Amino acid sequence: MEFQREIQRRRTFGIISHPDAGKTTLTEKLLLYGGAIQEAGAVKSNKIKKGATSDFMEIERQRGISVATSVLAFNYKEKKINILDTPGHKDFAEDTYRTLTAVDSVIVVIDVAKGVEEQTEKLVEVCRMRKIPMIVFINKLDREGKDAFDLLDEVETTLGLRVTPMSFPIGMGYNFKGIYNLWSQNIQIFNSADKQKIATTVGYDSLDDQGLNAAVGQQAMDELKESLELVEGVYPVFDQKEYLEGNLQPVFFGSALNNFGVQELLDCFIEIAPPPLPKSTDKRVIQPDESEFSGFVFKIHANMDPKHRDRLAFVKIVSGTFKRNTPYFHVRHQKKLKFSSPNAFFAEKKEVVDESFPGDIVGLHDTGNFKIGDTLTAGEQIQYKGIPSFSPEHFRFINNADPMKAKQLSKGIDQLMDEGVAQLFTLNLNGRKVIGTVGALQFEVIQYRLEHEYTAKCTFENFNVHKACWISCEDEENKNFLDFLQVKQKFLAKDKQGQLVYLADSAFSLQMAQQKYPEITFHFTSELH
Ligand code: G4P
Repeated sequence: MEFQREIQRRRTFGIISHPDAGKTTLTEKLLLYGGAIQEAGAVKSNKIKKGATSDFMEIERQRGISVATSVLAFNYKEKKINILDTPGHKDFAEDTYRTLTAVDSVIVVIDVAKGVEEQTEKLVEVCRMRKIPMIVFINKLDREGKDAFDLLDEVETTLGLRVTPMSFPIGMGYNFKGIYNLWSQNIQIFNSADKQKIATTVGYDSLDDQGLNAAVGQQAMDELKESLELVEGVYPVFDQKEYLEGNLQPVFFGSALNNFGVQELLDCFIEIAPPPLPKSTDKRVIQPDESEFSGFVFKIHANMDPKHRDRLAFVKIVSGTFKRNTPYFHVRHQKKLKFSSPNAFFAEKKEVVDESFPGDIVGLHDTGNFKIGDTLTAGEQIQYKGIPSFSPEHFRFINNADPMKAKQLSKGIDQLMDEGVAQLFTLNLNGRKVIGTVGALQFEVIQYRLEHEYTAKCTFENFNVHKACWISCEDEENKNFLDFLQVKQKFLAKDKQGQLVYLADSAFSLQMAQQKYPEITFHFTSELH
């Protein structure tokens, strides 16, 4: 059946890494293999360069790039590949976490010299908890770095993964000779002369082949054989089921910049990575091959055109076929909406499409109907779960700096919060508005965008909050709960959904509150509905 085939050939994934490990370079090389771009350098890095914090043009430029690279799709060997972009900058980590709700698997890029870094650790933890299948790519083998076994060890201990090498480097840095592929059982000889060309692969039936010795050198071959024996003795054999269940992570070595080991990664990826997966809702689990369409919004992007204040809502299709000009049910608003120009994404372009399938992302033009976490269906009353909102770490009061523009300010704040730029809390005591963000950079983004998109001016005022947490108690009439509400009155607020939030002023008071009120649950993430 055509529909089944379309589902089975899709691979929707994200690449995660600490900034500078080589995510952009790898993405670009993957596109190169897909024939989606003709030359390297076509994909712009979306990272915020150092020192760009107060360069607003830079922020705008980044936003432009991040629309273009939000979804990069291409065809490779009968497969339709959708790469979802994940910002590496830690101030935008929340965007990355949400994007991870829309991927079916991930590739983790690690710098051979730096090993496991902070951002990698955080992002992998999220994937591990959700049992997302992961492949690890150790990059920059053309540079001197850590020993391969030490790195595998580090990945296991620091990231808590269970790894199995699918390829193994022959030498490293100055002595980098090539890569042995355990998956396809061939050797790729490294030639650093031409970085932009796809390297040629030499197949060998046996490691004792004379040609191999000549190409790589006796000493390197001896070392490789020794390493492979160790690999065989120490690491589990690759098992696809274990990988798909998130219990085993295959590891590849290579150099994205030199186009080395990338095709092996891609060829293995399309074979082992999962097609679109079922997803849980508040009522039941939805299977991709159900005939009726359903999907959810995981990202909203303000349009770059200042003349039209419309936005693009990114919807991951979970089941059925999404069709243009067909009324779909917006569950939160309980109303039907029709989309005349849904966008599909290709390498660097977006185009209006008539239909899209599970695994695909469609961009829907939106004039304020959507917020992150919204569910669209053919009519069923379901709500997709698991799109988190994290406890912010930076807090400031927001004040109106232009009394004539109060309406614009309120609309602007409202829409920016729907986009997930930050979270808004209203203090119970006096109704003052507090903005909470995951990174400090967001305050500048908010101020800049309010002024340029909504002609509203705001100022921020410091507010000493250690952490915000959502609180709940099974029995809302519980005496201790009521006591807490009374004592902590000054520190209580409502989020945009009207949920109760405790703004703890220090780690100490949070800890004390947790100890003193065991009947209250303190949540550090909230599900966006
Ligand atoms: P990111 O998206 O993860 O932040 O990393 P990005 O791909 O931008 O790569 C970061 C730097 O690492 C870039 O150098 C890139 O050229 C380099 N790089 C990526 N893969 C390899 C590799 O396999 N070997 C080596 N030696 N370097 C690699 P840059 O100087 O920061 O940027 P650029 O001026 O080259 O763009």
